[in-house]
Formats: sequence, structure tokens, C-alpha cells
Amino acid sequence: MKFALIGTGLMAQEHIRNLQLIPEARIVALVDPAPSSLEWASSALGAASADARQFADVPSMLAALTPDAAIIASPNYTHREVVTPLLGRPIHILCEKPLATTVEDARAVAAAAETHPAVFWVGMEYRWMPPVTQLVTQVRAGRIGKLRRVGMHEHRFPFLPKVGDWNRFSSNTGGTMVEKCCHFFDLMRYIIAAEPVRVYCSGAMDVNHLDERYGGRTPDIIDNSFTVVDFANGARAMLDLCMFAEGMEEQEKLTAIGDMAALEVGIPSGILAFSPRVKLGQPKQVERTHVTTDEAALRAGHHHGATFFQLQAFLRAAAGKGPVAVTATEGLAAVAMGVAAELSAAEHRVVAMDELLTST
Ligand SMILES: NC(=O)c1ccc[n+]([C@@H]2O[C@H](COP(=O)([O-])OP(=O)(O)OC[C@H]3O[C@@H](n4cnc5c(N)ncnc54)[C@H](O)[C@@H]3O)[C@@H](O)[C@H]2O)c1
Repeated sequence: MKFALIGTGLMAQEHIRNLQLIPEARIVALVDPAPSSLEWASSALGAASADARQFADVPSMLAALTPDAAIIASPNYTHREVVTPLLGRPIHILCEKPLATTVEDARAVAAAAETHPAVFWVGMEYRWMPPVTQLVTQVRAGRIGKLRRVGMHEHRFPFLPKVGDWNRFSSNTGGTMVEKCCHFFDLMRYIIAAEPVRVYCSGAMDVNHLDERYGGRTPDIIDNSFTVVDFANGARAMLDLCMFAEGMEEQEKLTAIGDMAALEVGIPSGILAFSPRVKLGQPKQVERTHVTTDEAALRAGHHHGATFFQLQAFLRAAAGKGPVAVTATEGLAAVAMGVAAELSAAEHRVVAMDELLTST
């Protein structure tokens, strides 16, 4: 499988390290307008960089070669523009999350992806963190009974610097609730297996980036929030995001509670706790297991092995041996939930998903 990497910054480094663990993958093209990023990717490739031709943009790459697969890891606001010349060609596409920064752009890409003659996959890799996969498998198997509530917590470090600092402004990212939280909104839909109906988000930029200036402008991205989502099947979900809590033990925590039991998993610990309900006065019966993750996959990235397992699943889909796990339509759904949360936080009100998804 001959890969092109489009956008060769930080996330591309992670894709390079993971592709190097997959024997059937070869990187034949690096595409980026920034020579420093091309150089960075080239040195990460080491000896394999001799195989990888460099281009400043997608049209010049397509004039020279057609890869079997393309990974789009350029800034969020470029995804629609970057993906458009690839659509309709026999190239398997893995577009990093979020699919786009606005519902309009995400809808346009999702519509075009419907007739794309190869795989179109959105990089929602949190589904492939082994502790998350294990929790979802057990929920699906009915271990907690009928799922009623999903809670998600992300307590982490502030946004990292990016090439050109594009991630400091909502107009470039879609806002934190799109950029970062699309992962969690996708997980909510995936675990609950229903569509969101309404969203309420309370959030602001209270601590991070306040003293940063870019051309005289102060960043405008949420650094902490609470979001509540009601789903069409009556289940409810909550996301607690804090990006000035890097000192906390678990970066992510997911809780799924059904009418019979609860499951909770922490990352990075990988500790999965199963807690059946008990009769009043009876002792708790918490059962703890440790979900392990392959060491090489852990070392190759910053997402608890997820990039490796997602790439394997992408390759299976490209070979016709597995499903397209996250379609462009699902990418659109996660963007729409993020946009709803941004709107809710800005206007201090509940946002109905119909407001965003009903075509006019
Ligand atoms: N799945 C995940 O968990 C995850 C994690 C981090 C980043 N991401 C996503 O990956 C993407 C890239 O993020 P990053 O952290 O690598 O940012 P980055 O700033 O480190 O790298 C982006 C690169 O894209 C290049 N670029 C800009 N315009 C381009 C264009 N038109 N065509 C090709 N390249 C272009 C930039 O020069 C830069 O080198 C974003 O969409 C981000 O949301 C996903």
C-alpha cells in the first residue's frame, strides 16, 4: 500500500512511526507547503525517505503520481480544500478529525464521499484505544444491561504549539468543542448507538493562552467545559473537559452505566472496573481488570496505541476485508455536535441538533 502523507506536521510524525510498524505500508509522497515540515517528515522516515517524493500541494502530487492511500493531516480549516482533488479517484483516504471546521464544509465533503470509489475514513482513533474498545465490547454484549448514561472526562495539558499556531483560533479549528471534542462526541454516538437530539455546553477560555498574542490577537478557544447531550433513545451523555489539569492521574475516563451495572475505564492506567448493582446494605462487588496495550503501538504515538490499531483497520477496509468504521457521514455528525456545543457555550442556551442538521 503506497501512502501519501498530506500535511507533515506533528500528527504526521505519529502516522510515520505507526506506518513503519506495518510491513505492507510504504510512504511514497510527502505533501506540505512548509519546507521545514517536509524536512521533519523526511528525517523521521530515515532511510525510507529515499522512496518519498516531496510536493508543496495535492494537485502537484497528483500530476506526478497516484498513491494507493492518502492520510490528510493538514490543519482542520484546510481539510475540505485538500480532500476535494482526491475525491473521485481510486485513492483510499484517511482524513484526520475533525472532518471540517463547519457543518457546511463537513456536509459538502460527506456528500462527495458517498460516491468516492475507494475507502473514505475519518480519523476518530479514540475508538481504537484498547481500554475504550474493551468497554464498548462489554456494553454491546449487554454486561451492564440497558445503557442509560455515558460520562466522559478529559483532564489534560493545554493545546500544544502547531506549525503557524493555527490551533489558537476557532476560525481555524472549528473551536475546541469541534477540534478536540469531536473525538468524544463520536464516541458517545458509537457507544450509545443513537443520534443526539439536543446539546447544552457551559465552557470558556479561563486559564490557558490568556497572555499569548498572535499579530495582536488573543486566542479564542475554550479550555474547559461541561457538555450534556440528550440522545434519541433516551440515553444521556456528559463530557467534562479540562485542559489545565495535566497533573491528574488519568487523562481520560469513560463511564457507562446501565440499569444493571456500571463500567468505568481510565487511560492511561487501562484499569477497567465492572460494578454490578447491589442490594441495600450488601457489600460492593467491584471487579477490576487491566486492559493491556501492545508496547510497540504505545511507543509509536501519543494516543494509547490507537493510531496503530486504527491504521490496521483502515488497511483491512482498503483490502475489502473489513468495514469502513468511521464514514464521512459519521465525521459530519461529530462536527455537528461540536458546532452545537460551541454555539451553546457562546449563546448560553440549549441547541437542538435539528437547528444544524435540517437542510434548508
Ligand atoms: N486523531 C488525533 O488524535 C489527532 C491528534 C493531533 C492532530 N490531529 C489532526 O491532525 C491534523 C494536523 O494536526 P497537527 O497537530 O499535525 O498540526 P501541525 O500544525 O503540526 O501540522 C500541520 C501541517 O500541515 C501543513 N499544511 C498547512 N496547509 C496545508 C495544505 N493546504 N496542504 C498540505 N499541508 C498543509 C502545515 O504546514 C503543517 O506542516 C489536524 O486536523 C488535527 O486536528 C488529530
